[in-house]
Amino acid sequence: MTSDTLASYPGINPHRIPRHVAIIMDGNGRWAKQQGHMRIFGHKHGVNAVRNTLEFAAEVGIEFVTLYAFSTENWNRPEREINALMQLLVDTIEKELPNLMKNNIRLKTIGNIHQLPSRCVRQLKETEAATAGNTRTTLILALSYSGRWDIIEAVKKIALNAQNGEIDIENINEDTLNRALNTAEYPNPDLLIRTSGEMRISNFLLWEIAYSEIHFTSVLWPDFRKEHFLEAVLDYQSRERRFGKTSDQLAEDGKGVNPI
Ligand code: FPP
Repeated sequence: MTSDTLASYPGINPHRIPRHVAIIMDGNGRWAKQQGHMRIFGHKHGVNAVRNTLEFAAEVGIEFVTLYAFSTENWNRPEREINALMQLLVDTIEKELPNLMKNNIRLKTIGNIHQLPSRCVRQLKETEAATAGNTRTTLILALSYSGRWDIIEAVKKIALNAQNGEIDIENINEDTLNRALNTAEYPNPDLLIRTSGEMRISNFLLWEIAYSEIHFTSVLWPDFRKEHFLEAVLDYQSRERRFGKTSDQLAEDGKGVNPI
């Protein structure tokens, strides 16, 4: 059981909970600098925000949360910061296992995981196995991940299948690519959140966010708490998702989601 439930958040429409929320956790370095500390201090405090975020997701019934924890481009950071981040990842996943179990959260990953140090890969696999039976929320950690990398890998798989005569080039469609991506087993994000006031996508889930609602907040990631996540969900619930149609069409076919 989690400490709160959906009923603890009276402003929320229980019929329009986003199924999948993706988050660009940004601002750890700036947060640390503001406090006069090294960047890793910000990353360490970012773990509190991760814990709070996951607890909220489980409480309100968000089925999937994807966190951009380490991008392909992050390999270009100073070696010292990379090493500290990898150690933090191992320690956090190990230490947070009781919380993942308590909140019924299953861990999964996307990205070029085998580029990570072997101790990270081992810990990820162990925690994935330990949480495999959890059903409330799936936490998808994007590690050594970028949207372009995933698209290129998917294109390679499709090209190989075409070369082997397993698929006809004429039959390649959106679904072919959906199925070849690392995110194949998950629905597309309904909501994308980016913290720290930056308004960029930074090579995250490029294909999958085609119709996602985007919420930018100036809060730096280590300060991000349930109240900020709630604000993002309320913002999402106030939007009309048209998927290219008109408002009138949505009202006619009953498929639209009108602002509350
Ligand atoms: C971006 O802030 C943050 C990261 C690259 C790393 C995110 C890692 C964590 C929150 C900690 C561990 C997470 C898990 C899931 C165990 P930045 O460094 O780019 O900040 P800046 O833009 O202010 O420099």
